[in-house]
Amino acid sequence: MSERKARFAVVGCGGISFSHFIGIERAEEAELVAVCDANENRAEEFGIKHNVKAYTDYEKLLADPDIDVVCLCTPSGMHAEQTIMAAEAGKHIVCEKPMAIKLSDADRMVEACEVMGVKLATIFPRRMSPASRFVKKLLDDGKLGKLSLCSGYVKFYRDQNYYDSAGWRGTWAMDGGGAMMNQGIHTIDLLQWLAGRVESLHGYARSVLRNIEVEDTAVVTLQFKSGALGSIEATTTAYKQPDHRIVLHGDKGTIVLTGDEITTLDIIGETVEIPAFEPFSVVPDGHAVQIRDMALAVLHDRQPVVTGRDGKHSLEIILGTYESHRSHREILF
Ligand SMILES: NC(=O)c1ccc[n+]([C@@H]2O[C@H](COP(=O)([O-])OP(=O)(O)OC[C@H]3O[C@@H](n4cnc5c(N)ncnc54)[C@H](O)[C@@H]3O)[C@@H](O)[C@H]2O)c1
Repeated sequence: MSERKARFAVVGCGGISFSHFIGIERAEEAELVAVCDANENRAEEFGIKHNVKAYTDYEKLLADPDIDVVCLCTPSGMHAEQTIMAAEAGKHIVCEKPMAIKLSDADRMVEACEVMGVKLATIFPRRMSPASRFVKKLLDDGKLGKLSLCSGYVKFYRDQNYYDSAGWRGTWAMDGGGAMMNQGIHTIDLLQWLAGRVESLHGYARSVLRNIEVEDTAVVTLQFKSGALGSIEATTTAYKQPDHRIVLHGDKGTIVLTGDEITTLDIIGETVEIPAFEPFSVVPDGHAVQIRDMALAVLHDRQPVVTGRDGKHSLEIILGTYESHRSHREILF
């Protein structure tokens, strides 16, 4: 197995698929062998562009013995069933975020992949950046001491045209949520990866400005298992004021990640130099790291760097916020 490349298919040739194509192209250990899109013209266009087989029928793609891994770049509400179908066909899966829009679906995905002995990776490219990894190491080494306040801010601007641009956007059935589930999940994942698991939360999440079913704005208060407190602010209404930050305070100092840059690193009584990282753009570079990692995981029979189980806690936080908003109560994990 290790002498050959892992053979990939990209399913869903829309907006984010470009970063999967780039990732497959960059990885020496991977090759693209097929594409699939329910839209016939799009499937054909991408098949010709990449000189590979083009499918419009996902089940037929899954029956293709030349495919080892499927990259699911389809609307979020399809990920669960498509993952389970792929697992049952013996394919490994790289699943776009969110891995699912219901926790029970995420559990079914993890279980199906474990039962079938296939690998499931969930895309969280912000974890791959050298800056995020550096911060993670500082935290794991205890450089911030006991964490006290850990918060994430993820404020973007998406106007009504964005939500109207594809029928699935902004719907409970296929987007599964809004500012938190679609845009905020990367920051929420990073926050829990760095600050640890959340024990309880109380949140509000609703559509304030956009004509959509799901939230365009959310605020959440958090208690981490470590005892630290925190908050999340997420919106798609921040006109010309994007804010993309993780702020971590502990008894030994403060770290702020702004976008993908460490903008504050103050440790009491110690000077920690921020290394000069290679230029890294989360999309597509983060995808490229994860896709190469999946190729290596398949070739060397090991787990990918972000598994299905790893992808679940951010989903719990998001769905917990929706439940808290609906029920006006605190959610305990
Ligand atoms: N990681 C990131 O930074 C990032 C960024 C954007 C989107 N995403 C995620 O990627 C997914 C897709 O988002 P997008 O913006 O690319 O959407 P999109 O609407 O641009 O593309 C989706 C594609 O899937 C195709 N499709 C729909 N049903 C299909 C089916 N049954 N079989 C095969 N193809 C099918 C559509 O025709 C379309 O080409 C979503 O889950 C989204 O949350 C991730």
